Amino acid sequence: MRIYVADTEDEMAYHAAGVISDRLIKYPDTTLGLATGGTMIGPYRYLVQMYERGIISFKSVVTFNLDEYVGIEASHPASFHHFMYEHLFEHIDILPQNVHIPDGMANDIQAECKRYDCAIKEHGGIDLQILGIGLNGHIGFNEPGTPFGTTTHVVDLTETTRAANARFFGSVEDVPKQAVTMGIKNIMQSRSIILMASGEAKADIIAKALTGPVTQRVPASVLQLHPQLTVILDRQAASSM
Ligand code: GLP
Repeated sequence: MRIYVADTEDEMAYHAAGVISDRLIKYPDTTLGLATGGTMIGPYRYLVQMYERGIISFKSVVTFNLDEYVGIEASHPASFHHFMYEHLFEHIDILPQNVHIPDGMANDIQAECKRYDCAIKEHGGIDLQILGIGLNGHIGFNEPGTPFGTTTHVVDLTETTRAANARFFGSVEDVPKQAVTMGIKNIMQSRSIILMASGEAKADIIAKALTGPVTQRVPASVLQLHPQLTVILDRQAASSM
């Protein structure tokens, strides 16, 4: 595991975008696993800037998002589809057919999970997976207790997670109760992973995930077992380690 501690959240974002862009320059046909959430806004802004300056292109990049809420339209302002287009896809040259996000409105949600796993396999797996972390240690939407062997599946979101994401919806009652998420197994099968976190609120869970026992109670702790993990934190998120 490599750990980089930046002085500020902005520097964390810049450093993460730098690691991603280095990869895209070297391997323009990278398959990227993407995450949503406040932590990702900065890195995506820097990637857009690098694209606008002609430093990187997404023409041959394939993306797979980690997760999506069940039961809200892609056009809903708080959907992860909407987040990805607003913060990244609308501003770059990625081909629409190369963007993959689980369909939370699928009639047969179990079939959608299978389809997603197959699509990842057909593209040869994920080269670089980007991750944030939830306050309870979730990665994607793999909540505490999720077996490490899971692939894409439907989850019941915990109250902590719904409360943390209420800021995107207006009120906690409007946050969907379920989501579709890649499983821990999908994440661990990625060839390399970048985990990012910023702010004091994440300090305890970052310490538990990276220095505590590997346990299903802290889903992100499984990342200690990944051979190519890069952790990028700001000073506050690193403060309990
Ligand atoms: C969401 C996403 C996760 C993300 C986490 C942290 O629940 N499903 O992929 O890592 O929240 O979000 P934030 O960066 O806003 O703290």
